[in-house]
Amino acid sequence: MRRAIYPGSFDPVTFGHIDMIERSAKIVDELVVAILINSAKNPLFSVKERVSMLEEITCHIPNIRITSFDGLLIDYAKEVDASIVVRGLRAVTDFEYELQIAQTNRIINSDIDTMFLTTSLEYAYLSSTIVKEVASYGGDISHFVPEQLIDRIYAKYS
Ligand code: PNS
Repeated sequence: MRRAIYPGSFDPVTFGHIDMIERSAKIVDELVVAILINSAKNPLFSVKERVSMLEEITCHIPNIRITSFDGLLIDYAKEVDASIVVRGLRAVTDFEYELQIAQTNRIINSDIDTMFLTTSLEYAYLSSTIVKEVASYGGDISHFVPEQLIDRIYAKYS
């Protein structure tokens, strides 16, 4: 069985993440979406909230599991028996950081490869940070996140 892990902060999940999840789930037998537990990042949503949101918006995908992890991604990938790490590349600005992480992970565990998918063009500009910035000023975020998440995001700023 080919199992991949798609790690991230997902704070909150965006259409860009959903695009990556849908496309990579078609390539592998099982996709483990792994939310990083990182209190240092001071996230807007708790891990529990992020798990719920991801479960809700991916319930149409059969071969997917939503989890959370702390520590090193490469260790967690081994723990869940994933042989592939999926990451998205939006633009050349993502490349240097992603390459560094992928090379580091491969040195630590060469059994696990990183697979990069280019983000669909319509989401190439999109990030959770941008969504939070727009939402914090009460702007329209309906182009960036699924409808059922919109009120939950605004509620964090009310
Ligand atoms: O959504 P993000 O913030 O771009 O995701 C970044 C993430 C979670 C993939 C990355 O920060 C990560 O893997 N963190 C866990 C610690 C780790 O393994 N770091 C890489 C080795 S230096």
